[in-house]
Amino acid sequence: MPVETPRAEAHPAASRLLAWYDANARELPWRQPPGSTTQPDPYRVWLAEVMLQQTSVEAAAGYFHRFVARWPTVLALAAADPADVLAAWAGLGYYARARNLLACAQKIAAAGGHFPRTEAELRALPGIGPYTAAAIAALAFGQPAVPVDANLARVGARLFGLDVAGSVLESAVGKAFQPLVPACRPGDFAQALMDLGAMICRPRAPRCDSCPLCDLCVARHQGQTDALPRRPAKRPRPRRFGTAWFVEARGKVALIRRPPRGLLGGLLALPGTAWGADALPSLPFPGAWRWASAPVVHGFTHFELHLAIAAISIDRPRTFVEDVLWIPLDQVAGLPTLFQKAVAVAQPLARGTQ
Ligand code: ADE
Repeated sequence: MPVETPRAEAHPAASRLLAWYDANARELPWRQPPGSTTQPDPYRVWLAEVMLQQTSVEAAAGYFHRFVARWPTVLALAAADPADVLAAWAGLGYYARARNLLACAQKIAAAGGHFPRTEAELRALPGIGPYTAAAIAALAFGQPAVPVDANLARVGARLFGLDVAGSVLESAVGKAFQPLVPACRPGDFAQALMDLGAMICRPRAPRCDSCPLCDLCVARHQGQTDALPRRPAKRPRPRRFGTAWFVEARGKVALIRRPPRGLLGGLLALPGTAWGADALPSLPFPGAWRWASAPVVHGFTHFELHLAIAAISIDRPRTFVEDVLWIPLDQVAGLPTLFQKAVAVAQPLARGTQ
């Protein structure tokens, strides 16, 4: 593919991609329609990008609407109670992202309330890595940046026939797309690639017949569409084990707040043992406990947790762990996903001990 087309005129591949985007762009709440001369609000772009690292476009939309309804600006978010932000994030997982979200909003607020415009300045903010910086720079500020996530990496691996994996692929894809970025519509170019990846150049069964770049696609010419992107070698995730105690008394459940640093830091949780390499079930006090027949299994980034569940219903609240909080059962919906799964298993068990 020749790359020497001057920037003022879009590269033919970019023109085709943009024409496809004009006709097929997804309508998304953080987006301006294709070709819009209004730049989207960087706050909304940033929020969406952080959420989209964690979840699908469909699932992110609900979280996005709730966040912007409650905190419509970066200044409003900067002034939010951290516990409220973490609770609103519940279910999206990876809570360090939510803590960074708040830290980033506070930094921007302290600097006058405006997002910086360049990738380098954006990357200096908490929680903003190369991908998010490039996405904000391109989508919100029209900078010629290429945000390479897994979708763009797949599109690029196939289009340019790049048989490498992981961060080597991401960097090669960024470099390969860079000369194609049209000066007039860098944000739309990035979003067109995102939509192409989501709708056409899908991981499995790509719809090559509908792809505007099909005839340029190296993987397609070489019959390698299914083989690319190459999968990185997988290392098995280690397992950790623990026990969670579901203690119910008079319609209330015993919860704790996890320490502010570390996994699920600052969030409400069921009390229980520490999580370690060995399965050593233990109980905090004697009684008619019932054990779930199988542990709740939950994947964290670096390990897989097998959480045994013990449940009991007692006559009245008692202090069996430090700083126990007795929360009405109908108010535990904001727990992190791991503990929501645990509560779903434990609640019927505890009833059996009444
Ligand atoms: N995936 C990641 N960022 C996205 C965005 N801004 N729009 C659609 N899909 C995305």
